[in-house]
Amino acid sequence: MTKNQQLKELSELKRILIIGGGGRENSIAWALSKNKSIEQIYVCPGNGGTNSYSKCFRIKPKSANQDSIIFECQRLKIDLVIIGPEDPLAQGLANRLREKGFTVFGPGKEGAQLEASKDWAKTLMLENNIPTANYWASNSQEEALNILNSVGQPLVVKADGLAAGKGVTVCETIEQSKDAIKEAFSGKFGSASNKVILEEKIEGPEVSIFALCDGEKLIVLPPAQDHKRLLDGDNGPNTGGMGAYAPAPLINQKDLQDLTELILLPTLKGLKKKGIKYIGVIYAGLMLTSSGPKVIEFNCRFGDPECQALMPLMGDELASVIFACARGELEKAPKLSFKNHCSACIVVASKGYPKTLQTGDKININIESNSLLQVFHAGTARDKFDNIITSGGRVLSVVTQGESFEDAFNLAYKSLEKINFEGMQFRKDIGYQVREIID
Ligand code: AMP
Ligand code: GLY
Repeated sequence: MTKNQQLKELSELKRILIIGGGGRENSIAWALSKNKSIEQIYVCPGNGGTNSYSKCFRIKPKSANQDSIIFECQRLKIDLVIIGPEDPLAQGLANRLREKGFTVFGPGKEGAQLEASKDWAKTLMLENNIPTANYWASNSQEEALNILNSVGQPLVVKADGLAAGKGVTVCETIEQSKDAIKEAFSGKFGSASNKVILEEKIEGPEVSIFALCDGEKLIVLPPAQDHKRLLDGDNGPNTGGMGAYAPAPLINQKDLQDLTELILLPTLKGLKKKGIKYIGVIYAGLMLTSSGPKVIEFNCRFGDPECQALMPLMGDELASVIFACARGELEKAPKLSFKNHCSACIVVASKGYPKTLQTGDKININIESNSLLQVFHAGTARDKFDNIITSGGRVLSVVTQGESFEDAFNLAYKSLEKINFEGMQFRKDIGYQVREIID
C-alpha cells in the first residue's frame, strides 16, 4: 500500500466518541479536534465544559449501560471509540463494541486486568521478568496476618481490585500494616479487597510512562509526573491527582528507551503470550529505586491529570495514530510529533475533596484559553441559567505551556487568580521538583 493510500484510510476518521466525563476525556477531545479531517467528537457523558471546545459535543444517553452506548455509536455512525476510565474497560465495554464491529481504542476486559487485578498484573510481571516490588497475595485476613508476621517488616497493603485510587496503604510500622489488613478484609473497599496484596515497601522518586499500543507494537509518550496527595509538601490524603507536568526531566530520552525495553515491550509481549491483543494505553507507574526502576502499578488507560499535561504536547497526528492503534495498524500511522514545550497542569478541586464534597457552587472563569493555556473541565455542570457550577471532586484542570517549567507554572498560577468558586482548593507547589517556589 502506498503512503497516500494509508493516509487516505486514516482520513476516513470523521466521528469519534470518547467515553468518560473528566478532565482527561475533555483534554483528549480538545487535542483530537485539532486534526482537520475530523468532523465531530462526542464525549459521553462529558461535563459542563465539553461543548465549549471546537467540534466537541456532550452526549448523555438515558442510561450509562453498555447497550445505550452501543445504540449511540450506531446512531451517530461513530468511526472510533476511545474509552477513558478504567471501570468501563474492566467491565468489558471494548469487547462489546468490537463484537458490534466498532473500532475501539482501549483494551478488552482481559487486558484491563493489568489494572483491575493487582495479583494478575504482578503475576504477569514475574512471568516476564519485569522489575517490581516483592509481594504476597492473600484471600483471608488470617493468612495475610501470618504472612506479615513471618516477613517481620512493615508491608504496603493493597486491595487487589479497582478502588478508585484509594486501595493502597503505605505503612511505616507492622502495627499499621496489621490495621490496614484488617480494614481491607472488613470490606472497606467492597469486593475489591476480597483479595489483598502485601508488598515490600520500596523507595525512590516516582514517574509515569505511557505507551500507545496496537496489540503488537507501541509508541512511547513523554513521561509525566503526578502529585497524588491533596496538600502542599506531598501531605494529606491520597487523591486522584492534584497536578502534573510533562515531560518529566527525571527520565531522559535514553532512560525512556531503556524503560521501553525493560518494562513496556515485555508487558505487551507478556499480554500477547496470554492471547491478549492489547489495544490502548499501557500506563506504568514507576519508582526509581537505588536498585533500578520498579513498577508500582499498571493502569490500562491514560492518567488523570497526567493526560491533561500531555495532550497539548501532542502533534496533530495524534488522531491518526490512535485510530491506527485501534485498527491494529500502527505501522500505517504518521510519526507522532511532540511539541518542544514544558507543560504544567494544576487541578482545582471542590470544597471537601476527597472526602465529603460540596457541589452546586457557581464557578467564575475570567480567562480566555489560547495556544499556551487551556482550562479543561472535569466535575462541572450547567445549571438552568447556563451558569457553570461544581458537580464533582476535581473540578477543573488549568494547563499551560512554556519554554521552561518556570514559565509554564508562572502562567498557570497567574491564570488561577482569575478563577473562583466557594471553597476552591488547589496545591500551590505543583511542579516543586522542576521550579523554584518563592513564598
Ligand atoms: P497506587 O494507587 O498503586 O498508585 O499507589 C499509590 C501510591 O502508594 C504510589 O504512588 C506510591 O507512592 C505508593 N506505593 C505503592 N506501592 C508502593 C510500594 N511497594 N512501596 C512504597 N510505596 C508504594
Ligand atoms: N493520576 C493517577 C491516575 O490516573 O491513576
